[in-house]
Amino acid sequence: MSRNGHTIAIYPGSFDPITRGHEDIARRALRICDSLVVAVARTATHVKSGLFSVEERVALLEEVFADEPRISSVSFEGLLVDFAKESGANVAVRGLRAVSDFEYEFQMAQMNQELWSDFETVFLAPEVDYSFVSSSLVRQVASLGGEIGRFVSPAVSRALREKLSGP
Ligand code: PNS
Repeated sequence: MSRNGHTIAIYPGSFDPITRGHEDIARRALRICDSLVVAVARTATHVKSGLFSVEERVALLEEVFADEPRISSVSFEGLLVDFAKESGANVAVRGLRAVSDFEYEFQMAQMNQELWSDFETVFLAPEVDYSFVSSSLVRQVASLGGEIGRFVSPAVSRALREKLSGP
């Protein structure tokens, strides 16, 4: 879907927290759209126990993408397809790291297609250095005192340290 020739895509996710893998996918997505809305879902399909609040995750996204005016960071409530319609987008971008991601991603893509037949999901492959990086592994490694500087931006690294040493 394009508004005045301007194509908007949505990159939805939990982003708890954003990793360098997510960041790589978002920057790659700018090659196929004019602007990208990185959107933190308040209702995830797979219920996960969150570390950062949704507001904290959006604030970290804003910090990571502060250099890129074509990326905006928001949160959304409810169905992705409804949020996409409101945003003037009918394309979602998702990263596919490995075959193990495929079943979950394919199921979500087809459900979204059922909910809105005009909706498309585009899968992008991350740079190979990030193909094993996930928010959950980063959270675990950080909580056990491991070094996560290679996998997240400095702002996220700092936020994780503060969060995990907090009261
Ligand atoms: O990073 P995640 O947790 O794998 O992202 C999953 C996400 C947020 C894309 C998915 O849970 C989602 O789209 N949630 C919004 C609710 C929704 O639309 N559910 C029905 C479609 S599967």
